[in-house]
Amino acid sequence: MLSKEIREKFLKFFESKGHTIVPSSSLLPTDPSVLFTTAGMQQFKPYYTGAADASKDFGSLSTVSIQKSMRTSDIDEVGDLTHLTFFEMLGNFSFGGYWKKEAIEYAHEFVTKEMGLKIDYVSVFGGDSDVPADEESEQIWKSIDSSLIVKKFGRGDNFWGPTGNEGPCGPTTEIYVNGVEIWNVVFNQYFQHPDKKLEPLKIQGIDTGMGLERLAAVAQNKNNIFETDLFEPLIQILPEDEIPDRTHRIISDHSRAAAFLICDGVTPSNKDQGYVLRRLMRRVIVQCHVNGIELEAIYDIFEKIVELYGKHYPELDFGKMKTAFIAENDKFQKTFKNGLKEMEKLSSIDGTSAFKLYESFGLPFEVIQEVGKEKASGLTREAFEEERKRHQEISRAGAEKKFGGHGIVIKEGELSAENQEELKKKTRLHTATHIVVAALEKVLGEKLIQAGSDINTERLRFDFKFSRKVTPEELKQAEKIANEVVEKDLPVSWEEVATDEAFSAGASGAFRHKYGDRVKVYTIGDKNNWFSKEICGGPHVTHSGEVGHITITKEESVSGGNRRIRATVD
Ligand code: SER
Repeated sequence: MLSKEIREKFLKFFESKGHTIVPSSSLLPTDPSVLFTTAGMQQFKPYYTGAADASKDFGSLSTVSIQKSMRTSDIDEVGDLTHLTFFEMLGNFSFGGYWKKEAIEYAHEFVTKEMGLKIDYVSVFGGDSDVPADEESEQIWKSIDSSLIVKKFGRGDNFWGPTGNEGPCGPTTEIYVNGVEIWNVVFNQYFQHPDKKLEPLKIQGIDTGMGLERLAAVAQNKNNIFETDLFEPLIQILPEDEIPDRTHRIISDHSRAAAFLICDGVTPSNKDQGYVLRRLMRRVIVQCHVNGIELEAIYDIFEKIVELYGKHYPELDFGKMKTAFIAENDKFQKTFKNGLKEMEKLSSIDGTSAFKLYESFGLPFEVIQEVGKEKASGLTREAFEEERKRHQEISRAGAEKKFGGHGIVIKEGELSAENQEELKKKTRLHTATHIVVAALEKVLGEKLIQAGSDINTERLRFDFKFSRKVTPEELKQAEKIANEVVEKDLPVSWEEVATDEAFSAGASGAFRHKYGDRVKVYTIGDKNNWFSKEICGGPHVTHSGEVGHITITKEESVSGGNRRIRATVD
């Protein structure tokens, strides 16, 4: 059965059971606490909490979708037989409509009748101190097929969620076929708060997720996902014999993920989603280089992706993929080549030399490890990170000395000033910078990639990547939002957290690759409903009201495709 037939079958089956077909949402979620859409239920979160009404929006209490999803926690594992970054998730959902019995019956019918597969066994939640065992599901399975093996697992295996820092969650039942788990059926019974407390959910619901790749492997009787018709045609583009399987898998997975991200509007950058895209693209480029693959082959893969997936995902656009790839390759090539030359000169690579390659040529750790091969066999991430930290401390000390010699009397965090009064003014402008950036992001509808900031006693100034002029109307609107934040006198707080944690909580930070293990994150607004979250050394005011009235005074273009904004505070 071809994967496109599986997609159709799935949608039709659930449509026949009263579900409304809903298109995939973007890979970029509206929920700021998560970087990517990682599950089909994400776009439906408000229908479980009661914030939105499914029967009004979909004409039904149940929906079905095929969701584009990205999971990046195992990005380094890609290359083996099982790991992917991008995948498609088949899912059916109920928001206060049907419950466990129907959900299990539908899943059973689809797997055994529609797909003609044999279930090895299923699993249900075995219970723990917070949530009781799911005996009801066990009984439902037994009533459908008394010979079925029902295993009981704990929290780690049979309890889902939530995505982001809060959301619907609950026990699950999972279906195993040919030794792999193919379907996760979640019974959303609780709402988990950021402090991990569970509260019964307003609207109980069903959320199921089945990876198309795995289902296709099972249905097509393949040994692994890369042998399915979702990957095989991509892999075939590269000469089979000369290239290691691992490279085939990395290139096909990463090109596919990059293609979908680009067409959902991501551009490569040093932070957030752009950082992930850059990493995917650069790894493809490196793999091509190491294996003597022409980049033309990647364009052929892009073309194939459009051919294979374009009917279901009309946003896929070959031109966009190719343009983005060429631009990133141009950026990366020069430094990459110089870095490689430098690497050739080394007889072995340790943490110190790896960090030097990174600092001078932008070669990511993974690339150094990959290209360095035996030379880098003794290199560990810990040694690399240690060197990075040491380097940060040295440059900080150097900066202080430099300032010390020039009569600057106060240096606090990222600011320096002649006296307390000046420091106070600059601190207000500093917080105003965060506010204006976040306000502009709201108006322009995208995360800004900051390219530097400068504060003197008169004004704030910052640069950011943006391809066109910001219109006077947009500036007015941003100014209005900024002053509303000032009016609301929101709390400004900071905490020190692990860098990864900061990014997964949605914090902005322009220099991801330069941060150490832990960073300071400044939040404007309530912890669970913030207006701005930025990685920053401070200092800031303690309440947004202290900033005073903000006026955006100028918007202009500066070099490097950047825009520059100036603003004052009164
Ligand atoms: N949310 C669950 C998952 O992603 C089921 O869809 O596995």
